[in-house]
Amino acid sequence: MASRVSQIGEGFTFVDAGAGTGMLTAALCDRIGSISTPRRITAWLYETDPNVRPVLQQTLRECRAALAAAGHHLDATVLEEDFVLHRPGAPLFAPASRSEYADVVIMNPPYAKLEKDSPQARAFAEIVHGQPNAYALFMAAAVDLLRPGGELVAITPRSFCNGLYFREFRRWLLARMSLRHIHVFESRRAAFKDAQVLQENIITTAVKQTERTPEVMLSVSHGAEMDHAKWSSCAAATMIDDSAGHSVIRLPTASSDFAVMRAIESWSDSFDERGLRISTGPVVAFRAAEYLLDSAEHPDAVPLISMHNIRPFVTAWPVAKGTKPVALRASHGAASLVLPARNYVLLRRFSSKEERRRLIASPYLPNAEERRRPVALENHVNYVTHTSRELTEDEVRGLVALFNSDLFDRYFRVVSGSTQVNATDIRVMPFPDLQSVSRVGKRVAEIACSDRDAIDSCVRTSLGVLSPPSHVPSEARA
Ligand SMILES: C[S@@+](CC[C@H](N)C(=O)[O-])C[C@H]1O[C@@H](n2cnc3c(N)ncnc32)[C@H](O)[C@@H]1O
Repeated sequence: MASRVSQIGEGFTFVDAGAGTGMLTAALCDRIGSISTPRRITAWLYETDPNVRPVLQQTLRECRAALAAAGHHLDATVLEEDFVLHRPGAPLFAPASRSEYADVVIMNPPYAKLEKDSPQARAFAEIVHGQPNAYALFMAAAVDLLRPGGELVAITPRSFCNGLYFREFRRWLLARMSLRHIHVFESRRAAFKDAQVLQENIITTAVKQTERTPEVMLSVSHGAEMDHAKWSSCAAATMIDDSAGHSVIRLPTASSDFAVMRAIESWSDSFDERGLRISTGPVVAFRAAEYLLDSAEHPDAVPLISMHNIRPFVTAWPVAKGTKPVALRASHGAASLVLPARNYVLLRRFSSKEERRRLIASPYLPNAEERRRPVALENHVNYVTHTSRELTEDEVRGLVALFNSDLFDRYFRVVSGSTQVNATDIRVMPFPDLQSVSRVGKRVAEIACSDRDAIDSCVRTSLGVLSPPSHVPSEARA
């Protein structure tokens, strides 16, 4: 992260936000130590945890001594204040001292959900939508502290790059900062074993300026071994997708991703615009506890479909010897929890770490007997319908094949680093017309669902996408 800082002038001011024991400061000082002409360094370190401060002070003593020995001067101050709340206008960064705004903010901020009405969230109300996360507020506060042309280097979860919760934040950030480099840790497990960070992490380097740098550097490593990273670049106009007003930051880390993006983005309409709707199953287990049944034998029982019932291409219900409720008692009070038994596409809202693909879909195609009683879908399941009519069987099979395909999996990975499947990401996704979907459905009906390669190839040829995506995600390889 210290090596991402592009310029260290004769007088250099940096901020380490959430400094902990001062590792990032030490790394930056180490880098400065190798510069041959003298530097005057001013550092502001924000840290609220009194337990780490003695170690932080010790780190600073060592940094001062090492820099002095190399002919530099370090003036470092630890601020025991909340970084998000300590904004310009406060005495340190009063407007009169604008030139003292930081050249660089470097940070490994806390990753924690905050209350919507916490003082930190209220300080940045304009970028908060839903439940805010401390790391995004740290990034926003850093932008405020940077001088024009100053640089932010932040290691954070990738989750701010897509999804509705961070949309206002992305718009706000990208209106003020130009992305220069993003490093992706492809494995959610390898880089941060101790911290139990389960989503993809990235290091973002961005410059405070309103015009976008045309090319953004991208690098990717499996885990922490960044020296072996694979480098590429991506046009900012390709990386930042403003088409639906969501300013999604896409990360095409494999060379074949560009072909996947071109293929999918050649469809002019989105999932929504094709008349499709994605909704979340209404049954929240703990709220519906009184209606849940362990057996489907009860006279009022209707099938309860949960995430574990959704296997690629197959809705496996009921699952033998499961410990989870299998049915719902469709009594009067449970009317809002059931849906008419129609043709649906079921899509898991989360994929487990062991799954090869992020999107896992199955068909729900009730026969005449099954249509006599409704069906209940659990809250970790998304279901797809048509806004004005029932989906045909071919459309359902086609949509299931699309969602389960390598093509869609790769596209989804470019857009999202999370194992969570946000309905918003699906809604804005470019989508083929329903005739083509139907054609895919007819063709895949003749292929065994275990033959994934044949299905992938059938999806591509039916949609006229010729080059097969060759990238196999390394977690799948592992
Ligand atoms: C993920 S740790 C990173 C520590 C260090 N920068 C590193 O990379 O090893 C985040 C640090 O931020 C501190 N912190 C949490 N909330 C803070 C706040 N509102 N203001 C300042 N520091 C905070 C925590 O005490 C913790 O030491």
